[in-house]
Amino acid sequence: MLTREENDLITRTGPGTSMGILMRRYWIPALFSDQLPSPDCPPVRVKLLGEKLVAFRTTDGNVGLVDERCPHRNASMFFGRNEENGLRCVYHGWKFDLEGQCTDMPSEPAESNFKRKVKIDAYPCVERGGMVWAYMGPPHLKPGFPAIEWTEVPASHRHATRHIQECNWFQGFEGGFDASHLTFLHRGDIIAGNALLPKYYQPVPTDFGMLFGSGRESGGPLPTWTVEAMLMPFHKLIALQANRPRGAHIWVPMDDESCMIYSIEYRVERPLSVADIDRSIAWKYIHAENLPGSERCVSNKDNNYRIDRERQKSGASYTGFTGFGIQDCGIQESMGPISDRTREHLGTSDIHLIQLRRYMLRAMKTMEAGDDLPGSDPDSYKVRSSILKLPPGRAFDEAIAPLVRAEVAPAALA
Ligand code: FES
Ligand SMILES: [Fe+2]
Repeated sequence: MLTREENDLITRTGPGTSMGILMRRYWIPALFSDQLPSPDCPPVRVKLLGEKLVAFRTTDGNVGLVDERCPHRNASMFFGRNEENGLRCVYHGWKFDLEGQCTDMPSEPAESNFKRKVKIDAYPCVERGGMVWAYMGPPHLKPGFPAIEWTEVPASHRHATRHIQECNWFQGFEGGFDASHLTFLHRGDIIAGNALLPKYYQPVPTDFGMLFGSGRESGGPLPTWTVEAMLMPFHKLIALQANRPRGAHIWVPMDDESCMIYSIEYRVERPLSVADIDRSIAWKYIHAENLPGSERCVSNKDNNYRIDRERQKSGASYTGFTGFGIQDCGIQESMGPISDRTREHLGTSDIHLIQLRRYMLRAMKTMEAGDDLPGSDPDSYKVRSSILKLPPGRAFDEAIAPLVRAEVAPAALA
């Protein structure tokens, strides 16, 4: 449970909010690179942290991200002409470059130098891992790009989808580290009782974010741990399942009541197979079923996520929702647009979430004190989620960070 103030702190990300200022200190995925397939192609609307923006690819092939509102009289730059290394508003022809500088103002007298004084808000972008990432914070505090493993593998080795979840980003994010929901929401139809519930929960703060250890008795002298990494400020690395590609998620706030969820699968050592990609899409039942021309899922709150009460009753499905993605999306949206955490009753199995919230609240304090933020060092992101055997207690806390770092072998990266 949180106080009303704490709940506001972790959920609000608009300009001027604490979490919003914190998030703007990191690189934020804005869209897929292939949504801007060629120089001077049509611009794309992007909503990030409550800001309405427009992305465009210039004649030179670079990506710009500007305020959707023209600084002249607020017309939408989405309808603009993308030409000769700039985006031109079609209302009165003002044109802006990648840095937001007005470079042409044909509606003013030729001798006027007014255009030099006008800028549109613009954010620097880089392209990594098939995505455009924006930095929306103060220029002098811009960090190096985080060395997240999946962003460094060749395009053939990764596959990503995205979909909109219609609730606050933190519901999705903390759901990603909720180890006990797997046994029910996703696997209740095949797991008898609570046999696979973790016996130990060990959340460990690190210099890049957190590690969440969930330990289960597995017959031997040591428990088997699933250790999942949270990378600041909204990434998760999924622990590898045998023979499967590795996975990652990102929960990017669009505004306080919706977020864009990216799901990435990748292999370090070889390209993904067609079967890998097919299974990934089928398993999530999301990307293949987005509404036409939309990133909203076909199964959504307007149709109760197409719940199948027969399958729920018969036990063929625990939830009646088809697919992990819809199960998360449906149940997390059902908590409300912004879940009211003042009325929760948290138990032992919620320890990860309690510590995740504390960590994020602490990170805001660190930022306000002007100290270095977690993840300031791009190399601190060189970790993998893992499954391993360790004794519980302090031994786990002390051993785990070096172990997840050691899992990343730089030589294996292209
Ligand atoms: S509103 Fe954009 S040029 Fe006038
Ligand atoms: Fe889930």
